[in-house]
Amino acid sequence: MPRLFAALPLPDEVVDEIAAWHAGASLALSAADWREVRRENWHLTLAFYGEVAGSEADDLAEALEGCASEAAPVRLRLAAPGVFPSLARPRVFWLGVEEVGNEEPRGGRALAALARCCRRAGRATLRKRSAKDTPFRAHVTLARNRGFPVPMPASAFAGMPAVPDIAWWAEEVVLFRSELRPEGARYRALERFPLKGPVKTDKES
Ligand code: 2AM
Repeated sequence: MPRLFAALPLPDEVVDEIAAWHAGASLALSAADWREVRRENWHLTLAFYGEVAGSEADDLAEALEGCASEAAPVRLRLAAPGVFPSLARPRVFWLGVEEVGNEEPRGGRALAALARCCRRAGRATLRKRSAKDTPFRAHVTLARNRGFPVPMPASAFAGMPAVPDIAWWAEEVVLFRSELRPEGARYRALERFPLKGPVKTDKES
């Protein structure tokens, strides 16, 4: 059964900016401890569904289309980096994403509402109960710890370059399939759902 998740893809120019930043930031991480996520796999996860049967995937896609048709495009920008779950046990290294005008760690109102809708879509359409969702925190995963994480000092972030000041419009939710391969995961876009709701702010801002 395919492993599915819903995410916001990143525009190429944002990926380029992250790549340039990450080249410097990763110098603060021990290469022996961290495995980089390849840039073609960078995205902002909204909801992870795990293994989904074909019949359920259709219902899921329909529910996601509903989420996207009611949500307006969201203006996003890069924010401070961090680790999950904690500095004491850093397993995932990520770069934060914020909603412009709504800078909150759990995602601004529109982004958090979109993630909530995508997660609810999974709960409503998938028969199996998935593991309890962790609180939504908008991020792009850049590296995963290879083994037993050693505590990281907060000062590790101070040695990283300034986060690029770049903003973009998220304009579609994508249903991805995650294929686990010996050489690493490969994410394939299965369906794209444009965000069709009316934008309330000036799109040029
Ligand atoms: P991440 O961005 O925080 O790493 C595809 O695997 C995506 O789904 C990843 O980007 C990952 O989010 C998320 N993901 C993978 N396994 C997960 C799990 N067990 N629970 C929640 N999210 C998961």
